[in-house]
Amino acid sequence: HNEISIGLLGLGTVGSGVATILQQHQEDLRHKLGTKVSIKKVLIKDKNKERLSALDPSIFTTDIDELLTDPSLDIIVEVMGGMGGAKQAIEKALRAGKQVVTANKDVMAEHGHELLKLADEKKCDLFYEASVAGGIPIIRTLEDGLASDRIAGLMGIVNGTTNFILTKMKQENMSYEEALAKATELGYAEADPTADVDGWDAARKMVILSSLAFSTEVRLEDVLVRGMKEIQAGDLEIAEGFGYTIKMVGSSKKDEDGIEVAVEPILLPNLHPLSSVNNEFNAVYIYGEAVGETMLYGPGAGSLPTATSVVSDIIAACRNLLLEVNGQRIHAAQHALIIKEEKY
Ligand code: NAP
Ligand code: HSE
Repeated sequence: HNEISIGLLGLGTVGSGVATILQQHQEDLRHKLGTKVSIKKVLIKDKNKERLSALDPSIFTTDIDELLTDPSLDIIVEVMGGMGGAKQAIEKALRAGKQVVTANKDVMAEHGHELLKLADEKKCDLFYEASVAGGIPIIRTLEDGLASDRIAGLMGIVNGTTNFILTKMKQENMSYEEALAKATELGYAEADPTADVDGWDAARKMVILSSLAFSTEVRLEDVLVRGMKEIQAGDLEIAEGFGYTIKMVGSSKKDEDGIEVAVEPILLPNLHPLSSVNNEFNAVYIYGEAVGETMLYGPGAGSLPTATSVVSDIIAACRNLLLEVNGQRIHAAQHALIIKEEKY
């Protein structure tokens, strides 16, 4: 490989961040991989939209099939969002033997197991680090860093938009509507922000994290989900008076009765480390039997932080593309979400 070619599906908040990092870190990437990595085709919806990206518009297309059938592309990066079209695109790319990177929690929470099996069959990678907690490397931590431990539970703030809204309502007296508008303007909210405020975005992320943590297939319909729309500024003030902070928290635990996953607004004592996670920041506590408590903290949404995770996945996919033994490309992926033996 003299050059690795990328087809980028989407050039919105995340896609433009990916283009920026690939362009600004070009030399570092070449240094790390020993080869050039370039975006060769980009799928957009609206050709008339003004874009700040430095990419040459001649590589833009509105024809997804043309992009997905281009044999010169090595890696497909899905950052267009949505469910049906994105799932089909990932499936098609894997069937064509491409490496795939996605930031799509909707697709990974509902179809991740099936798509990862397909990736394995096709000896391709499907990486999805950006699908949970933006710039925090939480997927790799569960897949690799803590692979040796038995996880007893997880607890975290995994939605940047709702955390941003609650922070602004509490600290800056913003109304719910103003804070949501600001989160949308800053690129934190989903295309349909009801997924954020009603708790479904966090629920999907908890499905992905819980499946990885407990090596089983956790389903979205088994998650207890309560949104944050009923919380008033007055509730935040009253809680503060008693030394508590209201946060949207995802929790997941495994005991002899099975696995319980929930996303809901809860009262946290002000001394609890999650109560000082503010704005679009996320944090995830992991309780491992051997390791004890581990907490990861960082930006949970936004263009460059999320793109950092996507580009790290691109690097992992490139490394696997470049992996050869005796001149033969070998398949290195070990997808932790593929359950080898059902246990629970
Ligand atoms: P976005 O800003 O709305 O961008 C979506 C991009 O995809 C746009 O460029 C849009 O084209 C293109 N697109 C969408 N549907 C298309 C279609 N049917 N055909 C062709 N192009 C289409 O979304 P985003 O915030 O970047 O999010 C992308 C994905 O990353 C989502 O799955 C989201 O959940 C996930 N994610 C987002 C964040 C974040 O902080 N925003 C963080 C982690 C994960 P136009 O530009 O022409 O409209
Ligand atoms: N809408 C999501 C959030 C984007 O606010 O957390 C990051 O997944």
